[in-house]
Amino acid sequence: MSHTKPIRKAVIPVAGNGTRFLPATKAMPKEMLPIVDRPVVQYAVDEARQAGIEHIVFVTGRNKQMIEDHFDVNPELMSSLSRAGKSAQLSELIDMLPTAGSVSFTRQQAPLGLGHAVWCAREMVGDEPFALLLPDMVSHGERGCMAGLVELYAETGGNILGVEQCAHEDVSKYGIVGVGDTVKHGFAVTEMVEKPNPDDAPSNLFLNGRYILQPSIFEKLADQPRGAGDEIQLTDAMVALSKSETFHAHPYQGRTFDCGCKHGFLEANVAFALARADMNELIFDSLKSMIASHQRGFGSA
Ligand code: G1P
Repeated sequence: MSHTKPIRKAVIPVAGNGTRFLPATKAMPKEMLPIVDRPVVQYAVDEARQAGIEHIVFVTGRNKQMIEDHFDVNPELMSSLSRAGKSAQLSELIDMLPTAGSVSFTRQQAPLGLGHAVWCAREMVGDEPFALLLPDMVSHGERGCMAGLVELYAETGGNILGVEQCAHEDVSKYGIVGVGDTVKHGFAVTEMVEKPNPDDAPSNLFLNGRYILQPSIFEKLADQPRGAGDEIQLTDAMVALSKSETFHAHPYQGRTFDCGCKHGFLEANVAFALARADMNELIFDSLKSMIASHQRGFGSA
């Protein structure tokens, strides 16, 4: 067991535009779209808390005030729930309220990429290792992915990446890692490539949006030239950092839904509804009858 500084803070970038969900995201942040009855961003916050993280730094942008309101008190709503005797809903709202001072917000002023968004959090993170959770990527499993990263980090120190297998044709959508020696319940990362051609990729293990990073990443990001898509890429800065620091990967045992695309978002809604005791039978029966009527030709063009 190495002597590592604890992971106390998590960065959650929420500045993206959500153009893939227009018109739903014309006025509403994409992170506020619901999976069943909780906004997408709530899942990342809950996962960070489950991993023992105390403070969340949101990197927001213009038109994202609704996220700030979601993590604040709503006194009118609370007193009206209380008057109506809706104690279950009231205690759910109270339970999910962050303790005072445990969330911070900073703005990314221009959409210069994920690397730039992370760099915007440097002052709030300070000189300590931190967790990074991309909220579009929603963990679904016995527990969230970040708890496993924190455990591996306690053994190895350095930088840790959440990874998962994807289909060969999906390799070009993500950052992909090369697989080295097995270390504890993970492995040493030999290389990282952003959105490679599937035939040239070192594996089909993709970066699933969960990271533990050393603060030295901020120095790399500060000097990082623009990469793919003319954006400052986090993966490029990690490649630079890997020359002097270790990177290990934690293969997530659950499944991550890519809620940045419609297909993944709809799948996540079905998976989370099926996992809920109060909904599973209803949803299962609905799905069965929808599939049967689809197979009979109803609804097809
Ligand atoms: C980013 C990262 C990529 C990672 C992905 C997960 O890509 O650059 O390495 O696999 O998130 O969602 P983006 O989705 O911003 O294109």
